[in-house]
Amino acid sequence: MIEFYAEIRLVHIWSVILSGTIFFLRGLALLAGEGKAPGRIAMSMPVKLASYTVDTVLLTAALMLMTVVQQYPFIDPWLTVKVVLLAVSVGLGVAAFRFARTRAERAGLWAAALAVFLFIVSVARAHDALGIFAG
Ligand code: HEM
Repeated sequence: MIEFYAEIRLVHIWSVILSGTIFFLRGLALLAGEGKAPGRIAMSMPVKLASYTVDTVLLTAALMLMTVVQQYPFIDPWLTVKVVLLAVSVGLGVAAFRFARTRAERAGLWAAALAVFLFIVSVARAHDALGIFAG
């Protein structure tokens, strides 16, 4: 699999970009038009399916990269942080889309999920658990 390292890494990075963009746009649409067309599209089955598909590709490429570079969560701290914060970001996203009762709650949870997601990117770029806060 090592001979495909560059391609797998590209798939991982592009699915990260797509996943973040879809999450950003869904939140924006929901905040712009709850109960109206944009909100309905954001929560429609095709959009949900696109999001699940991209996230599945992202994680599959992540598992492949893990075996290629032989670095693993709970052994390598930067990967531990990625896995834990991915769970946090997904939790915040689910809370924003499913459980938030007010617009302010929804906006706050959505923004927090995005901030965590961006921090994960910085952890990945730095290969350091502290990400942008690394010295
Ligand atoms: C939680 C499951 C994940 C695992 C196990 C994982 C694992 C990995 C591995 C092994 C690499 C290759 C590093 C290298 O080439 O040395 C990588 C790269 C990368 N990952 Fe992930 N990843 C995960 C999730 C994510 C998420 C959720 C994001 C973004 C929010 C992300 C963003 C990136 C980026 C931007 C790179 C390229 C870093 C570079 O410039 O070398 N990953 N990931």
